[in-house]
Amino acid sequence: MYNPGTLRIHELTDDERAIYATLKPERLPEHVAIIMDGNGRWAGQRSLKRFLGHQQGAKSVQMVTETASRIGLPWLTLYAFSLENNLRRPRAEVSFLMRLLKNYLETNLQRMMDNNVRIRYIGRTRELAPDVQEKMAWAAEATARNTGTTLTLALNYGGRSEIVDAMRGLAAEMKQKNLSPDRITEEDVHRHLYTAHMPDPDLLIRTSGEMRLSNYLLWQIAYTEIFVTERYWPDFRGIHLLEAIADFQRRERRYGGLGEDCGEVEEDPERISSAAG
Ligand code: FPP
Repeated sequence: MYNPGTLRIHELTDDERAIYATLKPERLPEHVAIIMDGNGRWAGQRSLKRFLGHQQGAKSVQMVTETASRIGLPWLTLYAFSLENNLRRPRAEVSFLMRLLKNYLETNLQRMMDNNVRIRYIGRTRELAPDVQEKMAWAAEATARNTGTTLTLALNYGGRSEIVDAMRGLAAEMKQKNLSPDRITEEDVHRHLYTAHMPDPDLLIRTSGEMRLSNYLLWQIAYTEIFVTERYWPDFRGIHLLEAIADFQRRERRYGGLGEDCGEVEEDPERISSAAG
């Protein structure tokens, strides 16, 4: 399905191109997930209302998405609105965020088409207001045949509730097929997650410096590399995505195994296990 066509490196800015030139194309991540944080602090620093931070944050969403599509990133997943945001933020802020989302989808649809970007969503989106769901469905349908970057917006999303939803789906399947729970595998859980159709993120970026996961993609990030920047989301641009990817490429991913430079294992493992009884 994923087919970016020709890469559009020539559309990067000069600064972005300079960083892109240092990257190893064969080691680009397939999936980048981002916790977009710091809209409120960005606004506070400028004595502006929080709303303006969100508005500026929506501009960052578009710029980062376009850079991702130019470099041929297959999957970009953004934490746009959490279950906790929905429950714990003032109603006025929640309704502003919903209006901003609708407006964002409407005004950026043509740019999504021009960039071959497909829009999808994860989360308990059926709990959002009908007019918001309608606009979301409209944008997803309009971009469904695009074959470049898939931009997934996590909306009314929580990692734990995703696992609960997956468990409910899996339990129903087991019951219907009359299967015993000891037959459950990790693959079965994966099939019932909202993200069943995509690979796990290679890289998770969090803006504005907090060192936490905030209930984001909890199952999927088991082996994901994490990159935290102090920069607030409204100041985050394509160049910062490329910097995070450059940092990612300097990491050694081990998936619980040994690294390439681990040297010889000195002890005879058999001797240790027999000594341990
Ligand atoms: C955190 O800022 C960010 C959010 C609440 C969600 C992200 C929302 C956007 C980027 C707005 C637009 C998105 C789309 C897809 C149109 P915060 O308010 O928690 O910041 P703070 O921690 O500094 O208060």
